[in-house]
Amino acid sequence: MSDPTRLAIRRPDDWHVHLRDGAMLEAVAPFTARQFARAIVMPNLVPPVTNIAAAEAYRGRILAALPDGCDFTPLMTCYLTDQADAVEIARGYETGAFAACKLYPAHATTNSAYGVTDISNLWPALEAMQRLGMPLLVHGEVTDPEVDIFDREAVFIDRILAGLARDFPALKIVFEHITTAEAVAFVESSGPNIGATVTPHHLVINRNAIFDGGLRPHAYCLPVAKRERHRRAVRRAATSGSTKFFLGTDSAPHAASAKESACGCAGIFNAPFALETYAAAFEEEGALDRFEAFASENGPRLYGLPLNEGQVVLERAPVEVPETEGDVRVFLGGGSLPWRLVPPSSFRT
Ligand code: NCD
Ligand code: ZN
Repeated sequence: MSDPTRLAIRRPDDWHVHLRDGAMLEAVAPFTARQFARAIVMPNLVPPVTNIAAAEAYRGRILAALPDGCDFTPLMTCYLTDQADAVEIARGYETGAFAACKLYPAHATTNSAYGVTDISNLWPALEAMQRLGMPLLVHGEVTDPEVDIFDREAVFIDRILAGLARDFPALKIVFEHITTAEAVAFVESSGPNIGATVTPHHLVINRNAIFDGGLRPHAYCLPVAKRERHRRAVRRAATSGSTKFFLGTDSAPHAASAKESACGCAGIFNAPFALETYAAAFEEEGALDRFEAFASENGPRLYGLPLNEGQVVLERAPVEVPETEGDVRVFLGGGSLPWRLVPPSSFRT
């Protein structure tokens, strides 16, 4: 594709997003719905979404937060705990209440206090999921305080993920928001049932961004950005044309005051310009012709869901990213991106 000025792709999905609840949900959900046809909604609310009733109620609150006539489908997930109930999970998948289950190692990230302390507690649930073809979404970081925070993803592969993939060889696994060359290598060398999501921010920043002239809380997320060589590896994988890598923003809004704090929250809010950010990265890699598969095809294929109908169009026109939306700082705020989603949404001025 030589220097296009217009890029039309099948409507994309976001395979990993935090939409939150209450006033924050109302503030952020329209941004995701404007860009994506469907989204895998993370269940790390307080309390977490661990059963069908909670997922159905949350789905209702998401739909109520969207503008009228908005064509957006939230795909709900079940938060796995040490008490994960295989029967409830299977019933939730079969009835469409759950699209997947999410594994947070206990205390790995925001609102993961109810997460799993020992993976063997999940055996019955994982057996049911493998049998049904229900994806397991993995926050792949160990929480052992002895392990350096920049090594937690790579160590997770060795200590947990490799064994899980061996013990459940047919289980669909999505290694979420990968940040390391080790994660890329693991996914590339595994079977077709194992894929990975890649965030816009991990394509753009390396760990220097967190310390750029001072401490930068808005560049802090989990898994934390790694060295430049890892960013390069993740970029290469995402733009390689491999069907194993697909779009998952991990947009994770927190009020600026909660991030600009003595103990700032992890999470980057990228929902307003996620597609534009990915498109810029694909263009920089000379891979715009591979963007559609990454954004709109590889995810649904792994999940076993139909591809979306319809298209979205990006045009080559600079778009200014605002510093903030409400009290949340926007990723790349104050900068500009070379591609713009068309048409501009009705709720933006
Ligand atoms: C997420 C959040 O804030 O809920 N934060 C983040 O840094 N990505 C949790 C998560 O996905 O780890
Ligand atoms: Zn997340």
